[in-house]
Amino acid sequence: MKAQTPPGSLSLFSSLRAIRQRSFYSEEVKKYGPVFKTAQFHHRVICIANLPLAHRLLREQAASIAPCPQNFTKDVTGGFLRFMSPMNYKIYGPMFRRAFARPVVEASSSFARKKIHEDLAGLALPQDPLNKLKDLTHQIFVRILFGLEPGSPMLDKFRSSFAAMADKSMSQRLGTAGLAALADLRAMLRNPPEAISSISDLAQQLDGTLNDTVIDNLLFTLRISTNDAAGLLVWILEFLGRNPYWLDQVRKQEDPTLPSRIIKETLRLSRSEFLYRRVAQEFEFENFRFPEGWLIRICIAECHLDPTHFAAPYTFNPDRFLGPPPSDHIYSPFGIRDHACSGVEFATMIANLVIDELRNYDIILSGPALAQRGFRHWNHWCPSSKVALRPRT
Ligand code: HEM
Repeated sequence: MKAQTPPGSLSLFSSLRAIRQRSFYSEEVKKYGPVFKTAQFHHRVICIANLPLAHRLLREQAASIAPCPQNFTKDVTGGFLRFMSPMNYKIYGPMFRRAFARPVVEASSSFARKKIHEDLAGLALPQDPLNKLKDLTHQIFVRILFGLEPGSPMLDKFRSSFAAMADKSMSQRLGTAGLAALADLRAMLRNPPEAISSISDLAQQLDGTLNDTVIDNLLFTLRISTNDAAGLLVWILEFLGRNPYWLDQVRKQEDPTLPSRIIKETLRLSRSEFLYRRVAQEFEFENFRFPEGWLIRICIAECHLDPTHFAAPYTFNPDRFLGPPPSDHIYSPFGIRDHACSGVEFATMIANLVIDELRNYDIILSGPALAQRGFRHWNHWCPSSKVALRPRT
C-alpha cells in the first residue's frame, strides 16, 4: 500500500492561523508529532520539527530535494549562492566563505564601532527602531562587502543605483529599471576600492578579474543580509530591554563570553525561524509520502523551544550557553549542512558592537511584549515595542 502524507490539516483556517499565531507550529507538533503537514494558501507544506530528522532527511533524500528560490534572486547571474547549482556552488561556495571570513570582516570593525556609536544616539525618542537599524546595518555591510564608506568617490553613485535595484519587494523580479541599475553597479564595481573588503578579496582570488556572478551575489547578499542582521538587532534591544539584569551583567565586564551568549540566546528565541526546501521528486521518509511539488519547512524555532534540550525554553537565559556549545542536532540558528550561513562573522561582529555600545544606555521599552509580522508565511516575527535609549549618567 502506498504511504500516506503526514498527519495535519490543509485547511485555509490553519493556513491563516500559521500566519497570525506565533505558537501555531509548536501546537501542531504537540498534536501530530515532529512530521506533519499544513498549507500556506495554495502551497502544501510538510513540516519537520526535529533537527536530527531534518539532517537525515536532507542527507538521505538530497537527490529528490531542491532549493526554494525567492523571485528576486532569479536575476542573479550564475545563481544566488543559497540556490546555486551544485556545479557552480563548488566553485563559488568556498570563494565566498573566504571573502566573508573574520579577517575581512574585522577590517571594517573600527568603522562599524564609530557608526554604531553615532547612530544609537539617534534612538533617544520612543520609536520602532527597525528602519534606523536597517540603515545602520546597510552602511556597515557596504563597508565590509565593497570597501565603501563616507568620503569614497563612488559611494553616492553606488547608493542611488543600489536604491533603484532594491526598489521592489523580494517576491518580485527586478524589472527594467532594476536591471539597468544592476548593470550600472556591475560596471562601477569591476574596479573596486583597494580597502580590505569582500569584493577586493574576491578580486584577488580571481586574479583581478571580477565577473557578474561574483558582483551580483555580493549585491544581493547586501540586500538580504541587511534585513537578517537588523532583525537580530531589534530582538537584542527587546530582550535586553525586558531583562535589564543581563545588560547590568554586561556592564560589569566580568565574563567576556557574555555578549556572545546573549546573541546565541536571542537567536534561539527569535529571528532564526525556518528553512524551506521543495520536493523535486516524490519519495518516502519515516513511512510518509512526500509528494512532488510540496514544500518542506524545517521548523528551527520550534526545535529551539524543545524542553528536553532547553529547560524553561521561553525564558531568556544566556547562561544556558555556558559550557561546550550545543551540537547542531539541538541548536542551529544559521542553517544546516551545505548551505549554512556564511555571514556568521558579519552578524556576530555587528551584534557584539551594538551590545558593547548599549552599556552606555538604559533601554526604555513601551508597549506590551508582543511580536508582529506582515501577512505572509515567510515574514519574520518582530517585537512590537517602541524603543528609546536613555544615556546613563
Ligand atoms: C542574524 C542574522 C542571520 C541569520 C539568522 C542567518 C541565517 C541563515 C540561514 C538559516 C541560512 C541557510 C538558509 C538555507 O539553508 O536555506 C543562511 C545562509 C546564508 N547567509 Fe545568513 N543569516 C544571517 C545573517 C547573514 C549575513 C549578515 C550575511 C552576510 C554575508 C549572510 C549571508 C548568508 C549567505 C551568503 C548564505 C548562503 C550560504 C551558502 O549557500 O553558501 N547571512 N543564513
